[in-house]
Amino acid sequence: MKVLVIGNGAREHVLCENFNSSNKVSKVFVAPGNGGTSECAVNLSIDSDDISGLLSFAKSNRIDLTVVGPEIPLSLGIVDVFEENGLNIFGPSKSASQIESSKLFAKNLMVEIGVPTADFCVVEDYEQVDIDTFGFGPPYVIKADGLAAGKGVAIADTFAEASSLLRSHLVDKTFGSASEKVIVERFLSGREISVFGFVDGSRVSSLTAACDYKKICDGNKGENTGGMGGYSPPEATLWNKNIENWVRDNVMQPVVDELRNRRMPYKGILYAGLIKTEDGLKVLEFNCRFGDPEAQLIIPRIENDLIDIMNDVVSEKIKTNSVNWNPETSVGVVVVSKGYPNEYEVGYEIKGVDLLDDKVQVFHAGTTLNMTEKENLLQTSGGRVLTVVSKDKDVNLARDNVYRNISRINFNGATFRHDIALLN
Ligand code: GLY
Repeated sequence: MKVLVIGNGAREHVLCENFNSSNKVSKVFVAPGNGGTSECAVNLSIDSDDISGLLSFAKSNRIDLTVVGPEIPLSLGIVDVFEENGLNIFGPSKSASQIESSKLFAKNLMVEIGVPTADFCVVEDYEQVDIDTFGFGPPYVIKADGLAAGKGVAIADTFAEASSLLRSHLVDKTFGSASEKVIVERFLSGREISVFGFVDGSRVSSLTAACDYKKICDGNKGENTGGMGGYSPPEATLWNKNIENWVRDNVMQPVVDELRNRRMPYKGILYAGLIKTEDGLKVLEFNCRFGDPEAQLIIPRIENDLIDIMNDVVSEKIKTNSVNWNPETSVGVVVVSKGYPNEYEVGYEIKGVDLLDDKVQVFHAGTTLNMTEKENLLQTSGGRVLTVVSKDKDVNLARDNVYRNISRINFNGATFRHDIALLN
C-alpha cells in the first residue's frame, strides 16, 4: 500500500513512523512533513490545506490511503473531495468535522442528546450583553465558535473581563469570522483527560485516554500552549474500565448515533476532552483528529497494525476489540523554542538527537533539514520543536527515560517542562 499523511507536526511524524514499520505499506509520503519525517517518509512540498494539490498528487501516484493529521483540511472538506474522486481517506467529512470546527454545533449536539457538558450561552451582539445575559456567575470561559489555531479560548474572572473579551471577538473581530458567534460557558474545575476512539460511522473501538499539559511553565503556570507533554494512560482514578464504559455509553456512542441520524456519519478518530468535576465527568470539547502531543503517546501503545484499524474505519468494519491498547505507560515531553508560545527565533542547529538511548523515540515538529555542502543540518523551524517519548512498564520508568535523554538534545533556547507526568 502507498500511504499519504497530511500535516507537519510530531503527530504526523509518529503516524509516518508507524506506517513505515508496517509490512503492508510499501511507501509513505507526507505533505509537507518536517526534518524528522524525511527519515521514514518522502516529504512533499504541498501544504496541508492545499486540497487540490493533495488530490492531484494522490490521484497521479495511486495513493491507497490518505491520513489527515490536522483539523484545517478536514474543516475544508478534504474527505468529501477525496471520496468524490474514489480515493480512500481516513477522517471525518466536512459536515461531521463541525464537531470541532463549530463549538456551537458541538454544544447544541450535546444538549440535544443529553451528553453532560458545562452550562453555556451564545453571544452574537455585543450591544445586547449585560450582567444577566449569561445566566450563571464567574469565572466564565469565553470561546470563539470557529477554529482559532488553539487561541480561541480564554478565562474571564469577572463580568468586566468577559465583556472586554466579547468586545474583542465581536466588535474588533480578533479572530475574523471564527468569532462571529461566541460561546460563554460556566467554568468547571477538575482534572482533564483526552479520550480517543476509532469510529467507522456507526461503531466505536475500545477507547484510550491521555493527560496533556497545556501551560508553558512548570506547576501549570503561564500561558496556554499547543501542549508541552503528557502521559497515557492516566492513573486509575482518572481512567479505568468503568470510566471507559461510561464514556462509550454516555458520550462516544450517542454522538456517533446522532451524527449518523443527521446523515453526517462520523468516520475517523474521535477525541473527547473531558473534565472530572465534583458532579461527575463532563465534556469540554470534541476534536475530529488525533491530539498533539496525545498522538505521540497513544499511537506507540497500539499493538495491532494501525493500517488495518484505519482500513476498518474506512470500510466500516470497526469492532469494539479492533484496537489493542498496550497497558504500558507512555510519557512525552515537548522541547520548544525560547519565547514560545509568543515570538521565538528559528534556524538554530539541533544537536544531540543521535545521542539518545533506545528507551526513547523522538518525534519532530518544528524542524527542518538544511542541505549544506558537507551534511544535512537539522535546524529549528517552529515553536514546538520535538517530542521525546518513552513507553515503559510504569509512569516513573517512562518519565525517567525521557528526562535522562532530553537534556542531551541541545539547541539555542531549547526549553521544556520538568514536571511532566510527575504524579502526586
Ligand atoms: N492536545 C490538545 C489538542 O491536540 O488539541
